[in-house]
Amino acid sequence: MVLSNKTVLVTGGAGYIGSHTVLALRDQGYQVLVLDNLEYGHRDLVEEVLGVELIVGDISDYKLLCNIFQSHQVSAVVHFAAYAYVGESCSNPGKYYRNNVVGTLTLLEAMRDCNVSQIVFSSTCATYGVPTEVPITESQPQNPINPYGVTKLTVEKMLRDFDTAHGIKSVIFRYFNAAGSDPEGRLGEDHSPETHLIPLVLQTALGHRDAISIFGTDYPTPDGTCIRDYIHVTDLAEAHVLGLKYLFEDNGSDIFNLGNGSGFSVREVIETAKQITGKAIPIVEESRRAGDPPILVGASEKARRLLGWKPLYSDLNQIIEHAWNWHQKRHTKSSVETASSNTNAQ
Ligand SMILES: NC(=O)c1ccc[n+]([C@@H]2O[C@H](COP(=O)([O-])OP(=O)(O)OC[C@H]3O[C@@H](n4cnc5c(N)ncnc54)[C@H](O)[C@@H]3O)[C@@H](O)[C@H]2O)c1
Repeated sequence: MVLSNKTVLVTGGAGYIGSHTVLALRDQGYQVLVLDNLEYGHRDLVEEVLGVELIVGDISDYKLLCNIFQSHQVSAVVHFAAYAYVGESCSNPGKYYRNNVVGTLTLLEAMRDCNVSQIVFSSTCATYGVPTEVPITESQPQNPINPYGVTKLTVEKMLRDFDTAHGIKSVIFRYFNAAGSDPEGRLGEDHSPETHLIPLVLQTALGHRDAISIFGTDYPTPDGTCIRDYIHVTDLAEAHVLGLKYLFEDNGSDIFNLGNGSGFSVREVIETAKQITGKAIPIVEESRRAGDPPILVGASEKARRLLGWKPLYSDLNQIIEHAWNWHQKRHTKSSVETASSNTNAQ
């Protein structure tokens, strides 16, 4: 299939997973446009590193979206733009419903009105809530335990209804914990504030934080700390390329988990980071936080079977090594803001 005549709009393409996906799409020959309001994204990554067009704007801007769809003859949307801080979604749910749900509704209405009928959407394992079985399959019940997860589940339902009513086809990806960086060091994770475990551990190794907090050491896991499924961001990006291909080949709407199928505990992550960085990483043991399931591991056989997805970087050492290379290059002391570590699924 000739891809170079297909233009793909990537919302949130200046963010962490979005920018890695732009790289993968660009390398596959797609014409890529990024729409990002730069609230959390990085202009330099899009314009200097990726060299693709950045439109600074918001997914809630219907007119802008219609202009983009018509003037660039967009074939499909890959939709990352959202807020993704679980804690903030609990303290300020309206902000999350407005951006993640209402913003996406505007996007879908603009797609409907401009005849753009394919979308790949970033959902999350947080839509499952506390799993009834591990590894988690796509058919498990979805009972999110925080507003962030509810907003993502709501969009999943909107997508189903927009398919039924308007023929908009979607591939929904429920990611487990995205981690790592582009193996060639061109892109990486640069959230501010940062809440993800691996970057926080690496910031501690760099001396930008005094210690890493472990929330809960008495879980029913081998070392008492929570276990999570870390999936390399480059493998996630590749899945999006395959998801688009799936849509372009008229396979219809579908939903896939994206994880490695194996989990690592918080202590294992910290120990691995110590070995890779050769640095001391002081820890502070704290009590459990509400809403942290002991184990979250995803079954991704469906994506392997139907999309032909083959994660290349499932080794935790590689994931942390790539992230470490990026952090050493990118992060200066002044760029780091205070945040507590968070193993919550996002
Ligand atoms: N990081 C993870 O582990 C993880 C796990 C599961 C799901 N997700 C989902 O994946 C997506 C990307 O996550 P990420 O970690 O790359 O986040 P990120 O914050 O790095 O990227 C999101 C981007 O969207 C932009 N954005 C937000 N609201 C916008 C709006 N209204 N209009 C235009 N741009 C907007 C931000 O500026 C940012 O660049 C999110 O939808 C998130 O919910 C992430």
